[in-house]
Amino acid sequence: MHFGMLFLFFLLLGCCELQKSTMGIKGLQGFVARVCPDACRMVDLKEMAEKHRIDHPDVLPVIVVDAMSCVRHWYTPESWVCGGQWREYLTVLEDFIDTFKAAGIELVFFFDGVVEEKKRDEWIKRRQQNNKEIADLFQFIKTHRKQPGRGMFVLPSALPTFTRFALKSLGQKTVCTLQEADFEVAAYALEHNCMGILGQDSDYLIYNTSPYFSIEKLCLDRLVTVMYSREDVCRALGLSMKHLPLFACLLGNDVVPENLLEGFWRKCLVTCPSRNRNYSRRISIILAVANYISKMPCSYSSLKHLEDILPLGSDKTLLHRGMESYLLPGQQSPWIPPDARNSKIFSDQEESAMCRDMEIFQLAKEHHIQSENHVIFNILSNGVVECSNSLEDDCDTEIPGQSLIYRPARQHIYSVLLESEKGGTPNLKTLWFAKGPDVEKQRYSTFLACFHLQDAMEELQALEAPVAAFCCLVTYLMLQVSSLSLEDLNAFVALILCLKGKSAAELTSLQLLQVDPRAVHLGAVLVRGLTTLLMANSACGFPFSMDDLMPWKVFDGKLFQEKYQKSHRSCSMEELLEGNESLYTPFQNLKSLICKVCALKKRTIQSRPRGNGFIAGTHQREPNPRFQQTHRSSFVSPYHNQMRGNFGRNPQPQGRRYRSGHPDQRRRFHVPPW
Ligand SMILES: *[C@@H]1O[C@H](CO)[C@@H](O)[C@H](O)[C@H]1NC(C)=O
Ligand SMILES: *[C@@H]1O[C@H](CO)[C@@H](O)[C@H](O)[C@H]1NC(C)=O
Repeated sequence: MHFGMLFLFFLLLGCCELQKSTMGIKGLQGFVARVCPDACRMVDLKEMAEKHRIDHPDVLPVIVVDAMSCVRHWYTPESWVCGGQWREYLTVLEDFIDTFKAAGIELVFFFDGVVEEKKRDEWIKRRQQNNKEIADLFQFIKTHRKQPGRGMFVLPSALPTFTRFALKSLGQKTVCTLQEADFEVAAYALEHNCMGILGQDSDYLIYNTSPYFSIEKLCLDRLVTVMYSREDVCRALGLSMKHLPLFACLLGNDVVPENLLEGFWRKCLVTCPSRNRNYSRRISIILAVANYISKMPCSYSSLKHLEDILPLGSDKTLLHRGMESYLLPGQQSPWIPPDARNSKIFSDQEESAMCRDMEIFQLAKEHHIQSENHVIFNILSNGVVECSNSLEDDCDTEIPGQSLIYRPARQHIYSVLLESEKGGTPNLKTLWFAKGPDVEKQRYSTFLACFHLQDAMEELQALEAPVAAFCCLVTYLMLQVSSLSLEDLNAFVALILCLKGKSAAELTSLQLLQVDPRAVHLGAVLVRGLTTLLMANSACGFPFSMDDLMPWKVFDGKLFQEKYQKSHRSCSMEELLEGNESLYTPFQNLKSLICKVCALKKRTIQSRPRGNGFIAGTHQREPNPRFQQTHRSSFVSPYHNQMRGNFGRNPQPQGRRYRSGHPDQRRRFHVPPW
């Protein structure tokens, strides 16, 4: 079967990173803190490392970091709403690594590389909930013209993706997983005798592996945190370690949904009324389930019995599978006979894909695991690209959803990957493996072709790499989004030029008098654009070094806000460029390059200053009629009207099913969909 025959499912029609998709066992962490305080011990990681060195003289003390549950704690820069303070963030990560290094502790970072099918429905629910949070956030910014408090915090767009590359560029070992990260984290820690796991996910209380340390309670300057002890949890519950996987499944986890368990819980509650009336229902359930299973014989027939009494419907093996998901390589469970194990590392799709085109696939997989490429492996193996939410203002009808803006580019990237040597696309093997100046040129031009800019190759190649990549992105945006104005362009160009000379400390001290909601939206669109550049770069055999495409090279949220607001108040070029004369000529040159490329494609960029957004009264719901006209006449995406808001940014919960629905309702796109 040809790659082109693969079906591509676009979940949110996006590209990019996943947020942590594993949710663990609801209420278990809170239960442990409240009911078994002895299981939460303050520990000194430096001391533990020394002890580890004595106990295991042949290995370094290693902590496996579940990075997805840490990013939210790592992102400490004060400003988070403007698109990300990436240089500041990089110094935070550096500091984190250095602190552990000074204590003689090595870190290995794991990232979720996939959303497993069995967890996809939950993942979609979460994304929809995030959309609501984002809408509230924009409402706040429009009303108050400032960033809300940390209570409304959302991760800057693409934070996990860029964290992965940041850690790699800081010399850390990072692993992008082939299955749910928590399993691989637990398995790695066990196999390598690691000192512990750093994360925040109650599933780590269940796996029988290295100690589990809390990222939430970590105090970095003293290197102390809370360690959750599985043994103490077991003691408090009257269970042994071998009970924990069954216990987790019967409380409801990422595999066994809670709604199947209600009846069972009621039964347990009746036979074991809570000893303490003050406990919440959840705590009472946890105690009652523990009590129930502590009385069951540890045998396969007990599990069979449970499978019979639970309303598992057609999926009789759910409980069994749920338990297996906690068994690490080499581990046995008294509830599951060894011959009934059916763990599988690769999905069927993956296996069939692997048989084709081995070499390409193998390299894509290696790069994926080592976090060197971006979503290429997901496309080649499953034809799936997932995209988490972005900070986009759904009320702004003038800017299409980012997933639609970048759709033409993504489609071109798919054709490079899946339609090697068809209708103008070069041979993928050549792009990835061949050497020499001709191939280098071909890589660069294939990259530019993804953004329909191959004609501007000479001019772009003459620029510094990060500036060239950024120009490529900005030109593409100007072509795709006709509502972007000359003021927007000035802000983009001033940003890239002024950013270069600024240290993280200078950027930290930059104060904004107000936050503009449209600039927040554009900031998110730009950062998502950078992930599209990463994807194109990976597909085309790395014409750019990945480092040149990173946001700390080309973007800063607050600096962009400042340039945007100045530009829309029609300040002079001198003011926009901070009076730095050495930037005047580059500014004019970059602008004329972008305008020239746009003009060749019949796109003229008009001036449309918005003032400070209040005075100009650009109510997003009542677009200026003059503007509407130009918008309509020159907008290039035919998908805009039908699809915007539908599943570009705002998936409808009712009746819309993605991969798990009736086949007819599935959003399928046959390749090539253009
Ligand atoms: C229940 O909670 C109340 C108030 O928090 C407290 O006064 C009382 O002693 C508690 N009862 C038990 C049995 O723990
Ligand atoms: C002018 O800008 C460049 C590039 O951003 C920077 O390196 C230089 O330090 C700046 N000069 C002054 C005087 O600020």
